[in-house]
Amino acid sequence: MKKFYEEKYKNTFWLRQNFTQKRWRSFRKQATTTALLLLFFFLFIAVLVFAGYINITVHTGHSAEKPIISISRMAETPLLPPLDCLAWNETQKCPQSNPVLLKYMLNHDPSMNMACPEYFRWIHEDLRHWRETGISKDMVDRANRTAHFRLVIIDGKAYVEKYVKSIQTRDLYTIWGIVQLLRWYPGRLPDLDMMFDCNDRPVIRSKDHRGPNAAPPPLFRYCSDVWSMDIVFPDWSFWGWVETNIKPWANVVKDIKEGNKRTKWKDREPFAYWKGNPSVAATRADLMRCNVTDKTDWNARLFIQDWNKESKVGYKQSNLEDQCTYRYKIYIEGWAWSVSEKYILACDSPTLLVTQRFYDFFTRGMVPLQHYWPIRDRDKCRSLKFAVEWGNNNTEKAQAIGKASSRFIQEELKQEYVYDYMFHLLNEYAKLLKYKPSIPPNAIELCPETMACLAGGDYNKFMMASLVNSPRDSVPCTMPPPYDAQALKAFIDTQIGSTRKVEAWENEYWEKLNKKQ
Ligand SMILES: *[C@@H]1O[C@H](CO)[C@@H](O)[C@H](O)[C@H]1NC(C)=O
Ligand SMILES: *[C@@H]1O[C@H](CO)[C@@H](O)[C@H](O)[C@H]1NC(C)=O
Ligand SMILES: *[C@@H]1O[C@H](CO)[C@@H](O)[C@H](O)[C@H]1NC(C)=O
Ligand SMILES: *[C@@H]1O[C@H](CO)[C@@H](O)[C@H](O)[C@H]1NC(C)=O
Repeated sequence: MKKFYEEKYKNTFWLRQNFTQKRWRSFRKQATTTALLLLFFFLFIAVLVFAGYINITVHTGHSAEKPIISISRMAETPLLPPLDCLAWNETQKCPQSNPVLLKYMLNHDPSMNMACPEYFRWIHEDLRHWRETGISKDMVDRANRTAHFRLVIIDGKAYVEKYVKSIQTRDLYTIWGIVQLLRWYPGRLPDLDMMFDCNDRPVIRSKDHRGPNAAPPPLFRYCSDVWSMDIVFPDWSFWGWVETNIKPWANVVKDIKEGNKRTKWKDREPFAYWKGNPSVAATRADLMRCNVTDKTDWNARLFIQDWNKESKVGYKQSNLEDQCTYRYKIYIEGWAWSVSEKYILACDSPTLLVTQRFYDFFTRGMVPLQHYWPIRDRDKCRSLKFAVEWGNNNTEKAQAIGKASSRFIQEELKQEYVYDYMFHLLNEYAKLLKYKPSIPPNAIELCPETMACLAGGDYNKFMMASLVNSPRDSVPCTMPPPYDAQALKAFIDTQIGSTRKVEAWENEYWEKLNKKQ
């Protein structure tokens, strides 16, 4: 036994029995050296972590497994070159692509690979009309009727041909977003040719394009509806909405997360809040009838957003993170889908969602009673009154809805997934093209310099805030397969079912109340 012991711990001197003074001193010396070395080692690691060279992720599962610490060597990911406006001003030419970067991307074997969120499945649905026929150049050309610009990607470089100016900076920041996508996934996007319309409402009506020879023109825009074939794409606000001082999405998510911590749900005002511009749509004007008065209280607190006034006082009253102080938040469409939806859903307060006609790229992934509470379009006030009262009676359930929508928005709609959605949509779209795209005659080459060097003030500030500085260190998430007809029907039936359930509860509530009177 003793022999085994000595054999095993031959080198661990402190376990030996005949401990002499000399050995004790040498032990102390060694221990001090070891401790110092260890200290320096940890300091070194801390400095690396702080400087972002090492990324330590601690996975703590609920299982009995020990936490795993994985260290990925981020230092290898090259930074993209900073914008060179001096050179661009002189030559008006985009810089050459960086050979080091391309080599890195080619040799890089990314290992992280995760399934995309469910709402990515709708990419297949949006492109379904061209699945049999493919997309010809003629079809794309015909989409020029309302398009604001045509964007072409060839060998990883983007070119844009502008047709007409869009409202505000919608076109500018949408194009900026695509340019960032190319920096996020350099060399990974296929050649393609697309038409983009920056206006609100869909224009490619399904009823005009029926039958096998219908050849609908593929047109990208921010929203669509069930009667249209427009292909939905993330809107400009993900890279910032300068005119209303709404920062790029990644920054706003952080601010709202912080804002949510400020007021606990139970301490929030127990009413339904909305702030916006009611004059853009009849349905919003109709909502105003539900505001509290001396005589009636529908549990709604509605406010008018005066952008002109706000812009003069520096948007102090319109900070999104300060708008999470009510227990319930109302979402209602404007002239079409509204950019405000993601900000409203991120508040940790249940969203009372007035029946929508339009959808954007992510809303189709949401389920009533799980991510939001449905509100009738045709009977808004009574519907709101019931919803708020129900929530105040069932606080646990109400909070769960608020948490679920925040999680959906903060996790499944984070900027990384927005880029993944764009990547997959464009990738699937490009597969359908039956011709080799070419650079349009009046196109200019796009690079951040083309857009940012001439942009001043806030325009430049918002661009710099959303500039992609280094390519992504992993592949895009894995695209889910298309819905089969049965699964799609089941999904839609569930949605309708939950909405009907709430409507039945409402009916019962109001019938009882009316009987009492
Ligand atoms: C580039 O040119 C624009 C307009 O001529 C000017 O405003 C800007 O300061 C220049 N930028 C640089 C970096 O020289
Ligand atoms: C759209 O394309 C058609 C056919 O390619 C062309 O004749 C027409 O001039 C274009 N219209 C616009 C507004 O660019
Ligand atoms: C709704 O009522 C509140 C409280 O009386 C008021 O401050 C607000 O201005 C009203 N909103 C509208 C749109 O009238
Ligand atoms: C909320 O609770 C009160 C008191 O129990 C009840 O009278 C009311 O009908 C409930 N309202 C809803 C919507 O559940």
